Amino acid sequence: MAQVNVELKARDPDPEATLARCLALGAVESAVLVQRDTYFAGRDGRLKLREQDGERPELIAYRRPDSSGASESTYVLAPVADADAMAEALDAALGATVVVAKRRQLLLWDGVRIHLDEVEGLGSFVEFEAVVPDAGDLETARAKVAHLRESLGIGDDALVSVGYSDLLRDGPDALLRAADAAMRNAYAPYSDFKVGAAVRAPSGAIYAGANVENAAYPQGQCAEASALGALIAAGESAITAVAVVAEKLEICPPCGGCRQRLQEFGDPSTPVYLGRPGSGTPTTVTLAELLPGSFDREALEA
Ligand code: THU
Repeated sequence: MAQVNVELKARDPDPEATLARCLALGAVESAVLVQRDTYFAGRDGRLKLREQDGERPELIAYRRPDSSGASESTYVLAPVADADAMAEALDAALGATVVVAKRRQLLLWDGVRIHLDEVEGLGSFVEFEAVVPDAGDLETARAKVAHLRESLGIGDDALVSVGYSDLLRDGPDALLRAADAAMRNAYAPYSDFKVGAAVRAPSGAIYAGANVENAAYPQGQCAEASALGALIAAGESAITAVAVVAEKLEICPPCGGCRQRLQEFGDPSTPVYLGRPGSGTPTTVTLAELLPGSFDREALEA
């Protein structure tokens, strides 16, 4: 049967403080859920297989408008007897797109489910889900969600309008994977220090590059410069995120010259992900943190 929820999702920089505030409001701790959702490409809406510790797996088909602020979603649940077989069949027919693994602390407050989520590769989030028993109660559900939002002091900046699957598809891991793949092709016979970099353009496209060394050492080029060259060659000239991966360093800080190169195309808040793909939430710094007070085009206009 189709059901309707009023939902709100936001990034949560301080989950401990959020938990304390929820409890102060009278929310009751209900469960800690370890969930793994496998998403499949669907023609319409979204389809995911949910596997949860100690629970029967279920297939969830849902639709949700991608708008920040509270939104309604419609969903259908189907119990699944054999999750592996189901995943295999759906993967063969439609293709699996992304896996979202999370630890969810569930609290209940006045008919609203509060989720404190720790999502692998993305970080911490808070989510409200007010189940609407019948269409007449939509306004009540919206008011409850608005009250919770205000009580927790969730600003517009923190709101997230898309699902975890979308964030992961467009998130740090996709960029780190692209950087890692390029890094494997690095030409670094002199330093034996392979580096890969990837940048995301506003179009969503990812451009990657590796370091390219030379027997005449100063002619070598960093991975970041190669990635930016690919961006420009493809006809784009802005970046919304960066990832840097090195074979021999868990976290490879971009060199000074590359910080300057990257800031030419990003803005002060552009995130730079440092780490390895598939290893959880990467170290994230901004371009402004990497290169405060940088020399930019405004300086030339003085
Ligand atoms: N390298 C990069 O590709 N990016 C950086 O940000 C740091 C250094 C490369 C340059 C050289 O090929 C090798 O790492 C050793 O310095």
